[in-house]
Amino acid sequence: MSNYARITGITVEAYDTKTIEFQWDEKARPGQFAMAWVPGMEEIPMSLSKIGRIKSITVKNIGESTNRLHQLTIGDTLRLRGPYGSGYDLKKGVKYLVVGGGIGVASVLPVIKETGADTIIGARTDKDIILYDQAHRYASDIWISTDDGSRGFHGNAVELMREKCDENRYDCVIACGPEAMLYHLYKACEDLGLDCQMSLERHMKCGAGLCGCCMIDDQRVCKDGPVFNKEQLSGMTEFGVSKRDTCGRLVKFG
Ligand SMILES: Cc1cc2nc3c(=O)[nH]c(=O)nc-3n(C[C@H](O)[C@H](O)[C@H](O)COP(=O)(O)OP(=O)(O)OC[C@H]3O[C@@H](n4cnc5c(N)ncnc54)[C@H](O)[C@@H]3O)c2cc1C
Ligand code: FES
Repeated sequence: MSNYARITGITVEAYDTKTIEFQWDEKARPGQFAMAWVPGMEEIPMSLSKIGRIKSITVKNIGESTNRLHQLTIGDTLRLRGPYGSGYDLKKGVKYLVVGGGIGVASVLPVIKETGADTIIGARTDKDIILYDQAHRYASDIWISTDDGSRGFHGNAVELMREKCDENRYDCVIACGPEAMLYHLYKACEDLGLDCQMSLERHMKCGAGLCGCCMIDDQRVCKDGPVFNKEQLSGMTEFGVSKRDTCGRLVKFG
């Protein structure tokens, strides 16, 4: 479960985001994550953006630990625990629509690769779009939304999803991204009578279901999730409303 992996490739995806590739022989499913670290930083959860023998994490540099991962170069050693979490439940014959918002595209990329599903990538601006070329390679159809209209549909990913659901028939939406996006996407799925699976994010310490840091209502995001289905989401009073900070205090989303 615990492991060392040699970094074999680094790709700059955007001004603040890099993909780090490494050889790691653990078996992984789409939607699972690893706890990643190097000496001198905290262990942090990272979705696996590639899940074959060569795996990858796609890291947005937002603070101390993610900045430390951005300093790594090819040949360096990454420490990993996992893979952890439930992952997406993918079935043959189901027509999926995949929605990735911001860094959330990293989590859904293996789903696009496995299913070839139609895909929406949402970002704040053209400069924030990540992993488009890879998603484009695998998706049957792919559309972009940007909040400022600098590329693709002018508006958010949920508005674009509603438009695409008018034009096409889907059974289930698979999504990862900012919680506000996921919450409104979930509401849209309720309106449209669609099934959904969404990957949530909470502060994590152990990543393995032991410490209770990552609770949302009575669910551990690391072990019972991070992917939750529509029925599970419908029972969560904290979904889209509040999360726990690093000290365990419940704080409302801004
Ligand atoms: C299951 C799971 C999968 C994840 N997958 C990825 C992934 O594939 N790629 C990736 O880049 N990140 C991913 N994350 C988020 C990542 O773990 C955090 O961004 C990271 O732990 C931040 O550590 P830091 O020390 O760099 O920043 P910190 O110093 O902890 O935070 C810096 C600042 O950013 C704020 N902040 C922290 N996390 C977030 C956030 N998620 N969004 C916005 N603001 C935040 C903090 O409140 C603080 O103000 C995932 C998280 C989970 C739970
Ligand atoms: S991070 Fe410890 S239980 Fe989830």
